Amino acid sequence: MKIEKNADIFPRHFFWGASTSAHQVEGRNQNQWSVWELENASQLAQTAHIRLSWMPGWEQIKDQAEEPSNYISGEGVDHYNRYKEDFALAKQLNLNAFRFSIEWSRIEPMEGQWNDEAIKHYQDYIKELRSQNLEPFLNLWHWTLPVWFSEKGGFENKENLKYWKRFIEKVAADLIYDVEYIITLNEPNVDATFSYLFDLHPGNEVKRSKLVTPAVWKYIRFFRVYLNLMQAHRSAYKILKGKKPTLKIGLANQLANIQAKRPHNYLDQTTTQVMRYFWNWWLLNRIRRQLDFIGVNYYFSDYYTGLGKRKNPKVPTNDMGWYMEPEGIYPLLLRVWARYKKPIFITESGLADAKDEYRQWWIEETIVSMEKALSEGVDLRGYFYWSLLDNFEWQDGWWPQFGLVHVDRKKGMKRTIRPSAKWFADWLANLK
Ligand code: BGC
Repeated sequence: MKIEKNADIFPRHFFWGASTSAHQVEGRNQNQWSVWELENASQLAQTAHIRLSWMPGWEQIKDQAEEPSNYISGEGVDHYNRYKEDFALAKQLNLNAFRFSIEWSRIEPMEGQWNDEAIKHYQDYIKELRSQNLEPFLNLWHWTLPVWFSEKGGFENKENLKYWKRFIEKVAADLIYDVEYIITLNEPNVDATFSYLFDLHPGNEVKRSKLVTPAVWKYIRFFRVYLNLMQAHRSAYKILKGKKPTLKIGLANQLANIQAKRPHNYLDQTTTQVMRYFWNWWLLNRIRRQLDFIGVNYYFSDYYTGLGKRKNPKVPTNDMGWYMEPEGIYPLLLRVWARYKKPIFITESGLADAKDEYRQWWIEETIVSMEKALSEGVDLRGYFYWSLLDNFEWQDGWWPQFGLVHVDRKKGMKRTIRPSAKWFADWLANLK
C-alpha cells in the first residue's frame, strides 16, 4: 500500500507564504490613515473600555488599549528599513512566497510628483524577494490613500479614477518588471463597509447632499465607493495587462463561510443567500472577466438566523473576540470554485493570538481543509498566512498580535519566531 504524502496532495508549485500590508508594518507613513489616527487616538483610548471590556482577555490588554499611543501606527515595526531581515525570517520559515503592498502616498506624496527614492525602494524590495527565492505577490492598494487624493474625495468621486490610473501607469512603467502576480485591491467590501456604514475607518472629504438624510447619505457613499473600486480594479487590470500580458492579476476580498444556523429554516436560508450574495459574490460577479485568479481572505464562519441575526457556535474566541472556525475555509473554497472556476489563492487567513495558544491548531486545520478542497478538484494554488509579523491592526492598534513572528516594539523591534511558526516551518520542510 502506498501511503499518501502531503507532497502528493499539494501541487509542486504551490505557494506557501505570509501576507503583510505597507501601512501596518512599514512605519512613518503619511497618508489619510495616519491623519485619522492622530485625530482619533485619544477618543479610541477613552472608549476602549466600552468597546472592548466584554472580551475574555480584557484584563491583559486593558493598559495598552486605554493608551492613545496604541492607536498610532508611528514607527510601525520598521519594516521599511528591515525588510531584508524580515524576508530572511520568512525564508527561515520555509516559505516560498510573500504578499506585500506598496504605499501610494510614498510614491506620489504630492499630486503629480513622483518620489524616485520610494520607487527605487520598492524596486530593491522586489529584487530582494527574488534573490531570497520568495515569489512576490504585489498588492497595489491596502486601504491607504495619499492625503491629497483623500481630500479630493478619494474613491468616492468617480472623476478621481484618473489619478488612480496615472498611479497604475507609473507602477506599470517602474515596478512590474520582476513581478508575475498582482493583487489590485485588498478587501473593498471591508473598507467600504467600515468607512461608511460603521465609521471605523477614515472616509474622505465630501460634502453631504442636503437632499438626503445622514443615514441615507451613508449608504449612497458606501455604494458609490464600492462601485468606483470595482472600476478601479477593471482599469488597473487593463493597464497592467496592456503593459505585460503574462501578468496574473486578481483581487483579494474578505469572504466569509456564511451558513444558515437552522439549515431547514426558510428565513435562515433566505438571509444566508442574501448575505452570501452581497458580502461574497456581488463584487466578484461584476469583475469576473477581469480576474485571472481569486484571492480569498478568510477569518469568519457566520451562522445566520431569522432576519440577519448572527449566532455563532460555542467555539473558542481569539484575542479580538472573534470565534474561531478555521475549517470553514473548506466549504467556502468549494463554493468559490463552483461559482467561478478560476485559480484560487488564500491571500490571508490568521488570528490574533498573543500567547500563541491556537495558531498551530488554526494552521493545521487550514491545511486539512486545503487538502480536502484540493482532493475534490479545487484549483487552489497558494496559502498566505496573515501575517508574517505582529503589526498595526488598524482601528484596534497595536495590541492584537497576528504574527508568525512576534515583534517587541519596546525592545528595539526585536523579532522572535513563535513556536507555532516553528511547527509550520518543520511541517513545510517535510513536505519537500
Ligand atoms: C485585512 C488586514 C487585517 C486583517 C486582520 C484583513 O481583513 O486585510 O489588513 O489586519 O484582516 O483583521
